[in-house]
Amino acid sequence: MQRAKLWLLILFGIACLSFPVAATQKKVNKSRLTAYRDNSCVACHSTLLEPLRVSAHFYEWLNSAHQEKGVGCEKCHGGNPSAKIQKTAHTGMLRAAFPQSRLNPKNLPATCGSCHVEVVNAFLGSKHYKMFQESGTGPSCTTCHHHMATSVITWPPETTALCANCHNNSGGPAAQYLEVPEKAGDVIAAFSRADEVIDWSYFLIAEERKRVRGFKAEEEQLKRLAAILKGAKLNWHEFDLSKSRGQADQVFFEATKVMNKLWRKSP
Ligand code: HEC
Ligand code: HEC
Ligand code: HEC
Ligand code: HEC
Ligand code: HEC
Repeated sequence: MQRAKLWLLILFGIACLSFPVAATQKKVNKSRLTAYRDNSCVACHSTLLEPLRVSAHFYEWLNSAHQEKGVGCEKCHGGNPSAKIQKTAHTGMLRAAFPQSRLNPKNLPATCGSCHVEVVNAFLGSKHYKMFQESGTGPSCTTCHHHMATSVITWPPETTALCANCHNNSGGPAAQYLEVPEKAGDVIAAFSRADEVIDWSYFLIAEERKRVRGFKAEEEQLKRLAAILKGAKLNWHEFDLSKSRGQADQVFFEATKVMNKLWRKSP
């Protein structure tokens, strides 16, 4: 009897704890998907539990920046998102292994480039793109951004590891550029260092504004520097590491001067 009571109490506790969580979760997901109310790909795939391979990709997309920005399945896969029946909806869709598929690695720059124009233009000028088209040994978009472009690597050790998949001398296809992994990690670290100092300067400006007005000139400078940094990040896909590093460091050093000036002004 005592034991049964104890169990009831525990179960009640668990129910109390998990109910609000489950309720909010559901609300978030539902409101997230209202943009896709008329999209049959999303409507149907959100109900599929099997096969695992297919179901797993739906959830990968659900948590992606693409989902948040209204990029539905058909934008990459093709097909007809207003057809309710599976067969009609899937018309014209091809698996990535087919050379004509929009998702074949060779065609990804074109598929993704309909939106990511600047990134793809930079990529088209890279040796990676050339190697990929010629021999298939270079990386394409999803080599570095996962299947459904759900990840961006911004942690230097991860970048280093990613590049070392091919830039290694234990059989990698790009062994002649062994310095690449470390240099690439440094570029990513330089991007984030520059980002941080700009953010911090804006924070200082906001703090100072509580006491005095002004800081137009500083803000203009930060805006200009942020634009250079944005350009450098887009140009990253040329994989000209020295150039990217140079731009990131230029932004860092100039932004540091702005920051130091603000720092001196604060009490
Ligand atoms: C009425 C339901 C339904 C609709 C609508 C639908 N699908 Fe599917 N889709 C499925 C099912 C079921 C599967 C799993 C088929 C299987 O067993 O392999 C699937 C599989 C897929 C696959 C895996 C490909 C493969 O060959 O296994 C992709 C990609 C896909 N759908 C994309 C889409 C896109 C994009 C749309 C909208 C243009 C869409 N689907 C609309 C039910 C649907
Ligand atoms: C930003 C582009 C993009 C969007 C948006 C996207 N996908 Fe994908 N999807 C891909 C790519 C690229 C692959 C990997 C193809 C490959 O290399 O096998 C893929 C793979 C898949 C696969 C595995 C296919 C297979 O043959 O195993 C399924 C299933 C799938 N996607 C379903 C969906 C569904 C359902 C949606 C929408 C809810 C969606 N995708 C949205 C780009 C996208
Ligand atoms: C229909 C337009 C569209 C297509 C097609 C598209 N994207 Fe995107 N992508 C976006 C938007 C919008 C964002 C949100 C960020 C932004 O505003 O740039 C985004 C974000 C991203 C991000 C950043 C993700 C993050 O978590 O920050 C990556 C990486 C990306 N896309 C890669 C790809 C790749 C690879 C493909 C092709 C397989 C692709 N995209 C196809 C519109 C698109
Ligand atoms: C060799 C690896 C690699 C390849 C190939 C690659 N990317 Fe990237 N991409 C990265 C890394 C690393 C970053 C993060 C750089 C940074 O800090 O902005 C990035 C950033 C991005 C972003 C910006 C994300 C953001 O948050 O602003 C987009 C969009 C993107 N890539 C799309 C693409 C597309 C489209 C292709 C194919 C044409 C592609 N990438 C090919 C490694 C790669
Ligand atoms: C899928 C394999 C693969 C991955 C992953 C990869 N590379 Fe490469 N990379 C290559 C190949 C192949 C070459 C050309 C080698 C040659 O010249 O034969 C190359 C060449 C380069 C070059 C020399 C280009 C030039 O213009 O001289 C740079 C720089 C480079 N890669 C940077 C990177 C960076 C940074 C990463 C990680 C973010 C990366 N690579 C990831 C395959 C890869």
